[in-house]
Amino acid sequence: MPAKLLKGAEVAKEIREELKAEVRQLQSKHSVVPGLVTILVGENPASQSYVRAKQKTAHELGFYSVQDNQPADLDEEALLGLIDKYNRDPKIDGILVQLPLPKHVNENRVLLSIDPGKDVDAFHPVNVGKLMIGEPDYLPCTPAGIQELLVRSGTEISGAEVVVVGRSNIVGKPIAVMLMQKSRGANATVTVCHTRTRDVKYHTRRADILIAAAGVTEYVKGDMIKPGAVVIDVGVNEVGKTPDGKRILKGDVAFDEAVEIASAITPVPGGVGPMTITMLMKNTVRACKVHNKIKD
Ligand code: GUN
Repeated sequence: MPAKLLKGAEVAKEIREELKAEVRQLQSKHSVVPGLVTILVGENPASQSYVRAKQKTAHELGFYSVQDNQPADLDEEALLGLIDKYNRDPKIDGILVQLPLPKHVNENRVLLSIDPGKDVDAFHPVNVGKLMIGEPDYLPCTPAGIQELLVRSGTEISGAEVVVVGRSNIVGKPIAVMLMQKSRGANATVTVCHTRTRDVKYHTRRADILIAAAGVTEYVKGDMIKPGAVVIDVGVNEVGKTPDGKRILKGDVAFDEAVEIASAITPVPGGVGPMTITMLMKNTVRACKVHNKIKD
């Protein structure tokens, strides 16, 4: 029997409806609106597309949202100045600097300059550290989306063998930390594979939950998956364009093979992607409540 599809797009829609109601209440009861700024430096088409999607969702939820486009040659000091302005702007609860940044800009210095209380991506070292010790204020968006999808689909995480392929700061490392925590929706035994792992298939074939975040199109083949495993595909690889210019996307998992072996799998698109954006919105609503001292 083919695997059940874990449709992040549908779960994300449900969560967005909940958030929409929350935003309405914030406005009517407390006269505040969550504010989000997304800063895009340069014209990377994939980044433009991500930022557009984030802004569209923010608008739909009734946020105050600002799209700040900057030229590719913006110097680092100017970007730091811009972030400082938003750090001090009371209308802005969340600041997102879309990555990657141009090569002449020191990414870590930029992330460090964001007020940790407005760091809705949870990339600031303070937020990374809090996550590591199990006391996060904000969860990083893609890992949070993955965990939410697993929990809502009824996947048993506690005691499960989880294998993560990829060790990025945005996905691989934080999802590994989150799923190994002593907390609800976690308590897994986690293995992280990367480019220097000797025998990736040996590890992936042991996984009850396999998370593919390698950034390589269709890297995970059917014979790397344990029958009945839950497969989460984080890959967003552009493999071409439709005649009307839309991006054609493929994941890090060879879907047609995997769907015959796994018990559940996320599609690409419509799996993890919409969950990521929704978790960003959730973080921004939370930031708004904290900034305005509003209790849950
Ligand atoms: N680039 C790729 N993923 C992300 C993300 O989640 N946040 C930001 N800011 N940039 C990204």
